[in-house]
Amino acid sequence: MLVILKRDNEEVNEQAAQLIAGAIRKKPLLTLGLATGNTMVGLYQHLVRLHQAGWLDFSEVKTFNLDEYLGLPDSHPQSFQHFMHENFFRHVNVSPRNIHIPDGSIRGHYEAYCASYEQSIRAAGGIDLQVLGIGRNGHIGFNEPTSSLASRTRLKVLSRETLDDNAKFFGPEEGPSCAITMGIGTILEARKILLLATGGSKAAAVAKSIEGPITCAVSASALQLHPDVTFVLDEPAAARLAERDYYHRVLQMTSLLTPDRLS
Ligand code: GLP
Repeated sequence: MLVILKRDNEEVNEQAAQLIAGAIRKKPLLTLGLATGNTMVGLYQHLVRLHQAGWLDFSEVKTFNLDEYLGLPDSHPQSFQHFMHENFFRHVNVSPRNIHIPDGSIRGHYEAYCASYEQSIRAAGGIDLQVLGIGRNGHIGFNEPTSSLASRTRLKVLSRETLDDNAKFFGPEEGPSCAITMGIGTILEARKILLLATGGSKAAAVAKSIEGPITCAVSASALQLHPDVTFVLDEPAAARLAERDYYHRVLQMTSLLTPDRLS
């Protein structure tokens, strides 16, 4: 587990964009797992800038999004479909046929639909690089606390904390109470994982995920089981980590000995 400590949000986005760009340059046919949320907005802006400057080509990249709210039409301003098109896809050259986002408009036959989403990930050769954010309660995707660490793509009921966090986006309209999300087991099958966290509201979840016990109470703690995870954190998000000095030293040695891991 590599923990990259950055000063602020801007530096986190820059570092994450560099890692993703490096992965695409090494493997133009990369299968990229994508996430939504405020944390991702700046990252997508960086990737869009690299693309528009002619330094990054997404023409052969395949993408799979982690999750989508159940019951929102694609056009709803809070749907992840809408988020991804507005913040990323419409500004870059990912081919529409290579974009996969769980369909939140389905009614019934959820298990069959979720199994087909998993099947399309397998058909694409599996996810090479999965980008993650983290919820205040430690969720990744919408794997709320108590999710099975072996879970697969499925329908998930949102926790009270997530509903409260979402209330500001939905206003007086009642927000969705369920989502379709890749499972923790699905996420752990990605070859490489990159988790971004910024801001003090994530500090407790980040510390538990990296330094706490592996537990279904903190879904992101399952990432400790993965051999190639990189956390990119700003100072407020890293504030509750006990081993910050060690992570700084590891980072120095990484840039000396295996700089490839940082680009
Ligand atoms: C949602 C998404 C997660 C995301 C989380 C954090 O719940 N399902 O994938 O990581 O929000 O969002 P934010 O970056 O807005 O804090």
